[in-house]
Amino acid sequence: MNIIRIALAAAAVTLLAAPAGAQTAPKLKVGLMLPSSGTYAALGAAIENGFKLYVDEQGGKLAGREIEFAQVDDESDPAKAIDNVNKLLKRDNVDVLIGTVHSGVAMAMAKVAKETGTPMIVPNAGAGAVTGSMCAPNIFRSSFSNWQPGYAMGEVVAAKGHKSVVTITWKYAAGDESVQGFKEAFEKAGGKVVKELNLPFPNVEFQALLTEIAAAKPDAVYTFFAGGGAVKFVKDYSAAGLKKSIPLYGAGFLTDGTLEAQGSDAEGLLTTLHYADGLGTARDNAFRQAYAKAYKMPPDVYAVQGYDAAQMLAVGLVAVKGDLTKKAEFSAAIEKARIDSPRGAFTLSRSHNPVQDFYLRQVVGKENKLVGVASKALADPGRGCSL
Ligand code: BEZ
Repeated sequence: MNIIRIALAAAAVTLLAAPAGAQTAPKLKVGLMLPSSGTYAALGAAIENGFKLYVDEQGGKLAGREIEFAQVDDESDPAKAIDNVNKLLKRDNVDVLIGTVHSGVAMAMAKVAKETGTPMIVPNAGAGAVTGSMCAPNIFRSSFSNWQPGYAMGEVVAAKGHKSVVTITWKYAAGDESVQGFKEAFEKAGGKVVKELNLPFPNVEFQALLTEIAAAKPDAVYTFFAGGGAVKFVKDYSAAGLKKSIPLYGAGFLTDGTLEAQGSDAEGLLTTLHYADGLGTARDNAFRQAYAKAYKMPPDVYAVQGYDAAQMLAVGLVAVKGDLTKKAEFSAAIEKARIDSPRGAFTLSRSHNPVQDFYLRQVVGKENKLVGVASKALADPGRGCSL
């Protein structure tokens, strides 16, 4: 008798705690594939910080599902990319892929995501193919295409009256496509790219190429470098005495997240990017305050892209009430969304790449200060995508 009474009381307590029909949603496993070693390590860390900041702001849950993370260091190595993405999918059984920084690695990830139908959000890598020939209903980007900042800078450099430019970059998709974007806009406006210099990623032996630039005497130089390589390039360009004689312009990665290490060698450099210091909007101010409080450092463009990848995931998940089997509704919600980003609100192109403003920024002390909008609502052409 007593045992029955105890059992009934226990059942009543259980009922009170969990109303009839209510079930705890299973955790959602997010696979973060980012570099935590090598020249892009700091970029990976900022993306992870930004992503986790947004999740934390939502109380650790998106659409009622607690977020759990699985992680691999992709080392920015395309040769290891397929194995690494399979670790996340097969060993860790992740529901969603977030990654990565390096374009070559991102293309391998996108191939697997497309084959398996796993939702994927790219929080940096600008490879044109990801939102071009490889585009897919389940693949989105929260960052940029490599073409975009290059194209914006091509217009700026032409408007400054420069006629001849030498480009210098790493020989892989990001460098090649950044230069292509620059060249397209610059030559359309009457300029000429007179020489395209390259070195293999992540090589930083710039000396011989800097000597070639000095000999070519162009009006200006355009470059794509990022992370540790960008720090070294800016310092070497200045040490070679070129900063005084041949103006250096770049895609904004050249000076984003790098200024502490570049010091006065970066002072005055002009770059184009979809983020800048001193935007001064309420949205950006709140983000910057929250980021600085959480991580004891100011955010950079990579942090913004990570934060927005989480926002995009949340939009899709809310639309399907956390049920990722509803793939078409999940994708449709992100496609129509207006993402309230710290960079300024953006929408997605037909091929799932942000349509966004590109800012002209100038290095002043430790900041990439906003100068103005170089290219308003710039959309990547999404060449080869038939979504
Ligand atoms: C890329 O590989 O796409 C990339 C890497 C770092 C910064 C920007 C782009």
